[in-house]
Amino acid sequence: MKDKYKSLDQKKSEAKTGGGEARIAAQHKKGKLTARERIHFLLDEESFEEMGMLVQHRSVNFGLDKKKFFGDGVVTGYGTIAGRLVYVYSQDFTVLGGSLAEAHAEKICKVMDLAMKNGAPIIGLNDSGGARIQEGVVSLGGYADIFYRNTQASGVVPQISGIMGPCAGGAVYSPALTDFILMVENTSYMFVTGPNVVKTVTNEEVTAEELGGASTHSEKSGVTHFSCSNEIEAINNIKQLLSFMPQNCEEDPPSMLYKQGNELRENLNTIIPENPNQPYDMREVINGTVDEESFFEVHEKYAENIIVGFARLGGKSIGIVANQPAVLAGVLDVESSKKGARFVRFCDCFNIPLLVFEDVPGFLPGTDQEWNAIITNGAKLLYAFSEATVPRVTVITRKAYGGAYDVMNSKHIGADMNYAWPTAEIAVMGAKGAAEIIFKSEIQQADNPEEKWKEKELEYAELFANPYNAAARGYIDEVIKPQDTREKLIRAFSMLRNKSVSLPKKKHGNLPL
Ligand code: HXC
Repeated sequence: MKDKYKSLDQKKSEAKTGGGEARIAAQHKKGKLTARERIHFLLDEESFEEMGMLVQHRSVNFGLDKKKFFGDGVVTGYGTIAGRLVYVYSQDFTVLGGSLAEAHAEKICKVMDLAMKNGAPIIGLNDSGGARIQEGVVSLGGYADIFYRNTQASGVVPQISGIMGPCAGGAVYSPALTDFILMVENTSYMFVTGPNVVKTVTNEEVTAEELGGASTHSEKSGVTHFSCSNEIEAINNIKQLLSFMPQNCEEDPPSMLYKQGNELRENLNTIIPENPNQPYDMREVINGTVDEESFFEVHEKYAENIIVGFARLGGKSIGIVANQPAVLAGVLDVESSKKGARFVRFCDCFNIPLLVFEDVPGFLPGTDQEWNAIITNGAKLLYAFSEATVPRVTVITRKAYGGAYDVMNSKHIGADMNYAWPTAEIAVMGAKGAAEIIFKSEIQQADNPEEKWKEKELEYAELFANPYNAAARGYIDEVIKPQDTREKLIRAFSMLRNKSVSLPKKKHGNLPL
């Protein structure tokens, strides 16, 4: 009997060393953690239960029969984060380069199936050379099995992808199907075709980091939501993200203990500049309103003219979408519309109420925008808000012009509570442009056209550059002083806690992709 126990211990110990000490040392030398170390830092102490530790591949091609490792290059199982169940898989680059084939994929699929059946998030830590070349089409099948499950799980349980090393070729499509991607600067990259293929096909010379590193994907493509300076930061961000989310689409997000205090925020009164064309940082409004230090920004460096992120208000999770007047005056363009829409849809999937801070001069004009389909892309944001059934509240801090007024969670598209600050300007367009159009001939015929234009601009501004016309029609529920915003929002979201809305019966809508 003792021998049998010893043999088990030996197998487990062998499994835990992955591809062996030399490869672990090489992994560390690259500044990377091993698959098991990542799980250790991610999960609550002693909470990890491993599954499939002794799985091995069945391939005999190209000498693979002599290269068998317990676990087949991926560590899978379940555990807890802050006491809440999660499923995890972590690819082990020390074993055959973390390459994915039949057995490896089966292990991942098994935890994904469990995550869906049991309603808990799934976290994938990717570090892989891609499809295991020696196993051929079986590897491709394995990927497709995962893609299919990613799609089935979308909107059922949160899915988070940490990219901790290479993630190339078709392998990128699993993370791309998940809710959030985090990348590590300098040690991770994602691309469909690598620098060598790019050079052959387009003659462009580009490094892996330039082509698909963390900063490229967090700033240029928007593929990744977080660019982290090291793996520990990435792991901590995953934990923080999860703290705002429910376990699955049937649950409400978790609440934090919160003691009601003085909700008056007088510092909000002085953020909006006297000059309506002067920028200010909308983050000041957000941080000044939500629970202290609770704002957790997502997609921070991509399409910076819109801000999205999670926060807590009175201890409860909310999702925030806010125009950023400090960047491009806060206009809506192709990228910001996509960024906002994706975030709104995530929050709506997982019952996270939405708060919108609005200061938007309109959509960005220009051939670049029109040719890049601002029509279709702007419609994404409009569609996302219109179909969202979670509690939805808007605060217009300053400009709400044109179609952008409608799009940014207006009453007309289903917002529940709409507030405006006295500094709000809600109109079809800015006073200067409006005066130029509607008083064109009067201005042209005037003795002093400049003066006339100014006069008409003031006339228009007087009538429309305020929140009171909208309030008179009930499009705005209340005009509030900035200092009262926090209290009003806590009450509004509390009032909306049991909101229940059914969409018309349909198979699914047809989001303008
Ligand atoms: C089998 C692989 C492998 C793979 C790496 N290895 N990738 N084995 N299949 N795809 C093995 C190596 O042979 C080596 O084994 C070990 O992993 C470490 O690899 P190195 O090359 O020494 O590491 P490094 O120098 O860090 O380079 C990492 C790498 C490189 C850039 C990822 O290994 C690489 O280019 N690999 C191939 C990438 C690729 O073309 N994959 C297929 C993509 S297509 P030993 O025994 O020597 O330690 C794809 C399609 C998916 O994925 C489609 C889904 C729809």
